[in-house]
Amino acid sequence: MPHAPRKIIIDTDPGQDDAFAILLALASPEDVEVLGIVAVAGNVPLALTQKNTRMICELAGRPATRVFAGSDRPLKRKLVTAEHVHGKTGLDGPVLPDPVMPLQDQHGVDFIIETLRREPAHSVTLCPLGPLTNIAQAFMQAPDVVGRVQQIVLMGGAYFEVGNITPAAEFNIYVDPEAAEIVFKSGVPLVVMPLDVTHKVLTTRARVEAFRGLGSEVGRVAAEWADFFERFDMEKYGSDGGPLHDPTVVAYLIRPDLFKGRHINVEIETGSELTLGMTVADWWGVSGRAVNAFFVGDVDAQGFFDLLTERLARL
Ligand code: BDR
Ligand code: CA
Repeated sequence: MPHAPRKIIIDTDPGQDDAFAILLALASPEDVEVLGIVAVAGNVPLALTQKNTRMICELAGRPATRVFAGSDRPLKRKLVTAEHVHGKTGLDGPVLPDPVMPLQDQHGVDFIIETLRREPAHSVTLCPLGPLTNIAQAFMQAPDVVGRVQQIVLMGGAYFEVGNITPAAEFNIYVDPEAAEIVFKSGVPLVVMPLDVTHKVLTTRARVEAFRGLGSEVGRVAAEWADFFERFDMEKYGSDGGPLHDPTVVAYLIRPDLFKGRHINVEIETGSELTLGMTVADWWGVSGRAVNAFFVGDVDAQGFFDLLTERLARL
């Protein structure tokens, strides 16, 4: 049965893996309608994430996509970045032309608020792929929009995999734990893609060669991004490839059947210096605290890569 595409706002800090998520969404108009993409400071500062977002849209052949700049720093803390993973531009690897398409004048947070007020209640899904600063800002500035969000499907956190930026915390949550706390306490239905699942979608040689084998510019660039991005985690974990974290969010919207998880309580640590940004996930249901998230733990990894490759082939 054909269904109307789901309206989404992508909130992002590209990042090679963010780039895959954006390409997957732009290649899937029958599944998702991208109302706009908001950049946030994260992997690299905002000046780079907004520029990278536009470069990715142009690579996809979608220069009419509306791209906004959002917050340039976390709510209360100094920005922590991840050039050690993504390179100094955030999108190191292949060299792409500077973007020509414009950055929208409106602030990204205002765009999120205005869109949620304009569109019918419960018809817009937010897809955060970076620190949750913009979403928390929107919820603080306009509490009336919180109840209008259909769902938030985000990449962030970890339970069994614990942390990547510290021993206890995953990068997106660690960078702005106060923002994450606002989002996790908001009451909006949450779907969480933690490291537990993203560490299962690895860019093995065969999968990267499948991107390259598309024979297109997008296929070549995707393969070169994967080549660059994977070295960090392969050295660190001794794995067969790098984890393609962020496109799990968009893949979930297209093929939720590829994923398995549990409805559980997840709280964010904002006090302890030692475990700052930890997602305390009650996977075993021992706390008695109210369920606030669908926390994903497993994925059909090959099904995920088949979907991604098939969609990239369209661009
Ligand atoms: C997350 O942090 C960023 O480096 C990636 O883009 C992803 O969103 C993984 O911890
Ligand atoms: Ca990201």
